[in-house]
Amino acid sequence: MAESRIIAVVGATGAQGGGLVRAIAADPASGFKARAITRDAGSERARALAALGVEVVAADVDDAASIERAFAGAHGAYCVTFFWDHFSPEKELAQARAMAQAAKGAGLRHVVWSTLEDTRKRVPLDDARMPTLMGRYKVPHFDAKGEANAFFTELGVPTTFLLTSFYWDNFISFGMGPKKGPDGKLAITLPMGDKKLPGIAAEDIGKCAYGIFKRGAETIGTTIGIAGEHLTGHEMARAFARALGREVVYNAVTPEVFRGFGFPGAEDLGNMFQFKRDFETEYCAARSLATSRALNPALQTFDAWLARNASRIPLE
Ligand SMILES: NC(=O)c1ccc[n+]([C@@H]2O[C@H](COP(=O)([O-])OP(=O)(O)OC[C@H]3O[C@@H](n4cnc5c(N)ncnc54)[C@H](OP(=O)(O)O)[C@@H]3O)[C@@H](O)[C@H]2O)c1
Repeated sequence: MAESRIIAVVGATGAQGGGLVRAIAADPASGFKARAITRDAGSERARALAALGVEVVAADVDDAASIERAFAGAHGAYCVTFFWDHFSPEKELAQARAMAQAAKGAGLRHVVWSTLEDTRKRVPLDDARMPTLMGRYKVPHFDAKGEANAFFTELGVPTTFLLTSFYWDNFISFGMGPKKGPDGKLAITLPMGDKKLPGIAAEDIGKCAYGIFKRGAETIGTTIGIAGEHLTGHEMARAFARALGREVVYNAVTPEVFRGFGFPGAEDLGNMFQFKRDFETEYCAARSLATSRALNPALQTFDAWLARNASRIPLE
């Protein structure tokens, strides 16, 4: 029997990488094996992956040599950065560069790079529609990922560029779930106007990435966008109401108001939603539901995700 092809998974104890590791582990006949990368192989999450029979190795994307070791001997790698851990686009760029170089050094045959649009291509820095942030970004956590695509391309790393979508899980763990307004009604607050927001169950990102590794060479050099559904604020509010059995409304605020909410990253997210609102057609078109479902036949709709997760949403 041919030797298994190892996929080294960065962020394996997190949302995207975790979904990929579980997808590979759930399909032992596939010929793929996951190598879970974590900074702490002794953590509870790392031990849960080891309990699935997954190889767990310690490495830190801030330590290039450790990433090179973790990629050695692998067929492929899933590369992701962690903006919300440090809020630094420069750090994301450095980490992406280190992963691209390690992939090149290890001679990997297939890398999936979890990226996002460089919004400056559509909204240049001198465009006053949205403020420039951190000196040279419009949407820092998007722009740095998009800029980092070049590290993979210029080194000739065989890469598939994966455009992810808004995790519906943000309604549980990112403080974005329905909140009681002054009128006592539950409301979700987004600056999307009447435009559609591509969203996805975070667990499905890894499953789609697994579909990309299975397709292999035909995807190299291409950009694949994924989403579970494209929904307006009103459509999401109605789905929440169905799942929770109580009224939920959509509170459409302007991007200016959203940017002023004051929580860490509010300006970045305000610009991000404005970009998604103002370029709805292009942003949704880049995330084909049919392609996502072809890669991952178990792709969840928002209703299906809510049926599983509504009880976990903190309602204030
Ligand atoms: N939230 C959204 O809606 C959304 C949508 C699209 C894209 N994104 C992007 O998704 C990215 C984060 O991915 P995620 O949600 O899968 O992350 P996550 O769930 O926060 O998990 C990240 C994992 O990466 C590991 N990690 C952190 N720093 C590391 C380092 N220096 N070296 C090695 N491993 C490290 C951590 O594992 P250990 O502690 O075990 O090392 C952690 O479990 C962000 O860049 C964000 O912009 C988010």
